[in-house]
Amino acid sequence: MKIAMIGSGYVGLTTGTCFAELGHKVICVDNNAEKIELLNSGKIPIFEPGLEKLVKKNTQKKSLSFTTDISFAVKESEVVFIAVGTPPKENGEADLSFVENVSKEIANAITKYTVVVEKSTVPVETGEKVAKTIENAGIKKELFDIVSNPEFLREGNAIEDFMKPDRIVIGVNSNKAKEIMQKLYAPINSPIIFTSIKSAEIIKHASNSFLATKISFINSVSRICELSGANIDEVSAGMGLDKRIGKSFLNAGIGYGGFCFPKDADAFIKISEKLGYDFKILKEAQNVNSNQKTHFIKKIHESLSGVFGKKIGVWGLAFKPNTDDMRFAPSIDILSELKKYGAKLYAFDPQAQNNAKKILPGINFCTDLFEAAKGADALLILTEWDEFKKTDLKKLKSVLKNPVIIDGRNIFDPKKMAENGFNYVSIGR
Ligand code: UGA
Repeated sequence: MKIAMIGSGYVGLTTGTCFAELGHKVICVDNNAEKIELLNSGKIPIFEPGLEKLVKKNTQKKSLSFTTDISFAVKESEVVFIAVGTPPKENGEADLSFVENVSKEIANAITKYTVVVEKSTVPVETGEKVAKTIENAGIKKELFDIVSNPEFLREGNAIEDFMKPDRIVIGVNSNKAKEIMQKLYAPINSPIIFTSIKSAEIIKHASNSFLATKISFINSVSRICELSGANIDEVSAGMGLDKRIGKSFLNAGIGYGGFCFPKDADAFIKISEKLGYDFKILKEAQNVNSNQKTHFIKKIHESLSGVFGKKIGVWGLAFKPNTDDMRFAPSIDILSELKKYGAKLYAFDPQAQNNAKKILPGINFCTDLFEAAKGADALLILTEWDEFKKTDLKKLKSVLKNPVIIDGRNIFDPKKMAENGFNYVSIGR
């Protein structure tokens, strides 16, 4: 099938490339000409394991191409995906101006029946707005259908999440569009759930918000563990074996970040408010998330008896491992606060350093993990990269000035750390 993917960011690029890999012919569009040039040369502007290889392979096969010309891409395609950003406004609401603009441009290019699919995360009722925008541009109802097909890709794991999803959600109100979407996803062997457009829009916001709440719940439990002397790892393991609860997303830490959970939870709170519901539990999940960072900073102050003039090594900046994404990373708030208190910060992240440099001024960026730890009064762990877990503890101890580690991701066993002579502080244990 012929597909246009409007927006070539994390979501659009991965989704478009994977559709090409499935055998469809995909044109990815972006208004950033530099990015399109880079992509046409087979290189990608982000770090996502395995993606560059697939982009190269499918561009060479001519099943994937890139352009800045929306009109051309829409005219060539039967299915047009909207995968542009929906960043948060100052008040937490989703900014739908990119979706709105792109909808107008799509409308101006429609000449035959086209399925317009919302891929971007949008509040409930956006589908109706997109339909109205297209109709207002003079396109007859019979010439297009709107579909909501939310994405559930995790950064760092996006290709596998696309190829083997737990479920595919398709919100659709017409049989014609339903059949086309079914054909599109036919090569994937996963359950498809067909819903109304509004339900699909809510499924996306509710899923991300539920997972965020799960993390805030376990982070709250980790506080009880600290106060009572229990161990959060044991508690999570004991809870997670209950199939109704499940093991995943029960890792306590410095809270969730990234461009999805914090902003989607805020947008869900806002749209609920607009509809007349006060989503208190979700507001509290956001509060707990923010307090978790403050609590971690308190641990650092206590462990070092103040941070003024202290040299602090930092391992990990990205909001999670296997990505170079710094958006809403907990490291931003934590390190900015420590800097304010006069700490000297030496950081290392395997992938996110270039992005971190743009938003974290006044931090010394190091070329490897030992350089960041060298001569430090304490070492912070803010992202659980695998290479940190495998580190040589003896060597680490020898380079640190003081063997103090404050671990926001619980990557080491406290017993082992004590045996190795570290003063090791972690979360909920
Ligand atoms: C999330 C969802 O998991 C995807 O299903 C969804 O498609 C995506 O948002 C999106 O809306 O685009 P992502 O933001 O890539 O994916 O990252 P996650 O792996 O979900 O992690 C989010 C944050 O939660 C990270 O900061 C991570 O460190 C934190 N987290 C995760 C915890 O603190 N504890 C956990 O147990 C799990």
